[in-house]
Amino acid sequence: MTTDREIAAHYTRGNLLVRLNAALLEDGVDPAEPTVETLAPYDQFHGRGLEATLEMAALMPAGPGIHVLDIGSGIGGPARYFADRFGCKVTGIDLTSEFCDVAAHLTRLLGMEDQVEFKLGDALAMPFADESFDGAYSMNVSMNIADKSAFYKEIRRVLKPGGWLVLSEIAKGEGAEPDYPTPWAASAQTSFLSAPEETRRGLTEAGFEVLRLQSTLEQARAFGARSRAMAERGEKPPFRAIMLIHEEMAKQMMANMSRSLSEARINPIEVLSRKR
Ligand SMILES: C[S@@+](CC[C@H](N)C(=O)[O-])C[C@H]1O[C@@H](n2cnc3c(N)ncnc32)[C@H](O)[C@@H]1O
Repeated sequence: MTTDREIAAHYTRGNLLVRLNAALLEDGVDPAEPTVETLAPYDQFHGRGLEATLEMAALMPAGPGIHVLDIGSGIGGPARYFADRFGCKVTGIDLTSEFCDVAAHLTRLLGMEDQVEFKLGDALAMPFADESFDGAYSMNVSMNIADKSAFYKEIRRVLKPGGWLVLSEIAKGEGAEPDYPTPWAASAQTSFLSAPEETRRGLTEAGFEVLRLQSTLEQARAFGARSRAMAERGEKPPFRAIMLIHEEMAKQMMANMSRSLSEARINPIEVLSRKR
């Protein structure tokens, strides 16, 4: 299997919509009438879910009338959230076809199809003309991408002059390698982590000016502790996308994440940069 097919297979179960609808019903939500808010526990598929999306929003110089690219858009929670909040247009691209299908379905249900669209494709060869977008973001995707230099250059190509890029990723920590599986990779074979300073250097070499690079390790540890306490009290934690998408593997993944965060094997970061 090529790496791309292995990555798409990692995220694909084949019955995601059925399971999402069942989870919504259990929450007391009509699956035919979801909202950005009721979907948030499931469609914000990155560490800390909506909490992290709000931080990304604070970094984004977005607003009405601009066109934003979401690289590795998953089932589209961030794209719909930013389109709703900023009144911008968002185009998402993702390698996993089941995610693109579910993303398009949910977007139609929310009546946002004029504002938000999804394409199946590879972040390293995007089907977009040069200088198409005012801004771009990518949330917890680059850990699946080995050739970071090609990734940054491809994003730069499709950005207009001065366009912005907001990135979140799980960076390499100071400790040992993480244990696998993790939510982004079944094994080390499809996991490509960079240290924060490698990311800064890679972006700079690809033609971006890095305006801000912040670690959210403490926030991730605190969020994990709050979520575990809620689970112990029998309450649903706010971020349930890993359970939805990875099913029986999720428990092991979350235990590995929790250990990796507490031992600083991984370091989640958020980056704001601009095309030079
Ligand atoms: C952890 S999920 C994050 C999804 C979404 N960004 C979110 O935050 O809800 C990682 C996503 O990256 C996508 N992905 C990984 N490698 C990719 C590539 N080379 N091109 C496009 N998408 C990719 C996966 O299919 C998956 O949907």
